[in-house]
Amino acid sequence: MQETKQRTLCEPFKIKMVEPIRVTTKAYREEALKKAGYNPFLLSSKDVFIDLLTDSGTGAMSDKQWGGIMTGDESYAGALSWEHLEDVVKKLSGMPYVLPTHQGRAAERILYGILGGKDKIFLSNTHFDTTRANIEFTGATAFDLMPDEANDPELFLPFKGNIDLEKTEQHILKYGKENIAAVVLTVTNNSSGGQPVSMENAKALRALCDRHHILLVIDGCRVAENSYFIKHREKGYEDKSYYAIAKEMLSLGDAFVMSAKKDGMVNIGGLLTLKNEALATKCKNLLIISEGFTTYGGLAGRDMEALAIGLTEVFDPDYLHYRIRSTAYLGEHLKEKGIPVVWPIGGHAVYIDAKQLYPNIPINQYPGQALVCDLYVQGGIRSVEIGSVMFGKYDASGALIPAKNELVRLAIPRRVYTQSHIDYALDVFDDILNLRNQTKGYKITYEPEFLRHFTARLEKIA
Ligand code: F0G
Repeated sequence: MQETKQRTLCEPFKIKMVEPIRVTTKAYREEALKKAGYNPFLLSSKDVFIDLLTDSGTGAMSDKQWGGIMTGDESYAGALSWEHLEDVVKKLSGMPYVLPTHQGRAAERILYGILGGKDKIFLSNTHFDTTRANIEFTGATAFDLMPDEANDPELFLPFKGNIDLEKTEQHILKYGKENIAAVVLTVTNNSSGGQPVSMENAKALRALCDRHHILLVIDGCRVAENSYFIKHREKGYEDKSYYAIAKEMLSLGDAFVMSAKKDGMVNIGGLLTLKNEALATKCKNLLIISEGFTTYGGLAGRDMEALAIGLTEVFDPDYLHYRIRSTAYLGEHLKEKGIPVVWPIGGHAVYIDAKQLYPNIPINQYPGQALVCDLYVQGGIRSVEIGSVMFGKYDASGALIPAKNELVRLAIPRRVYTQSHIDYALDVFDDILNLRNQTKGYKITYEPEFLRHFTARLEKIA
């Protein structure tokens, strides 16, 4: 474990394999972005220097994981790699039924496809975009129920990802417990700043769900990162291991969905684990139809082997300390420069309040998208808007109903970039600050019906 008195926090690994990245010219990037419809999702990765688009599936695997790739058992049924994974996941989740899927949203589609439907209601601290889309696709309605004070980007709250228990109970009473398909607790709370959820909050939510006989699903794709915050911020957890904390958190749920592309430390994979046999049987039937047999669910044996190893490595104290502190390093230095960051810094990403950074850009001209575009043009940095491009809707007259916040996320891939890459990103923000009054807004020229941010095309407003 690194001693806190050290001034430089070193990456707790050395590099065995390298992948070249290149800096392009500003003129080149302007052209590339234009071709991509001012949507960085449509850029070629060869044109990106520092890719902070997502922490999902973008991490570097360890030598042990690569070793597992070579020894993975590719048997169709009952593969040893499946047995390894199942054992690791059963021990971590405490749930007897484990279903592998090709990624998180496949687990969501299966579970919410069964639980959802017209007139059904889902409640959450914040539904991630694929979670909401999978729920709404069934005709159900999803409510995000954060405490009001958590919406203040500058307020320090140790567990700003918590669900508002009072609002949750009010919704249960308003819509009737028989209509509540599930409560989904997302740890950490990705769409609200990557903020952690306290054990106290999760326990109280469990008690609330018990009182009303409602299913509690834990979206735990960043449950190890959440455990770090609990250990360091919540009374009574100082001496517990990160693993023990994660186990305790997952034990509170009836189901656990996981995109393994985050804290699973792999490039592909997902999990759905359940306590209830009848529900597990329904899910398994859908799994076989759409993902694959129950002992691989859309994954190769080698993927499952690497995931089983990743789920163990992620709880290494040196790794988690480096992970959370290096994300905070970026956020704290941005704050020092005067960039309005969501405070405190979350686990996997730094979130910037674009509304505050660009007060001259009206909300219906997407200030978050403007920052995303500026970061790419100025520095070849790819980030993602989490604002009204992602979550905006239209009213009957076609006017934008904006998202709650206009954020830009700088997500940090696991074990990929070194401190010099992050220092470079900090330098690019000097240019962003210098140009802040010249930056223009955007309008959407094409959008699909669901998850529009992935494929929308935009134009700069002259
Ligand atoms: N739940 C949460 C909280 C997520 O952050 C994600 C993915 C998913 C579910 C879906 O998992 O991508 O494996 O299908 N988040 C990525 C991100 C895409 O960039 O935050 P998936």
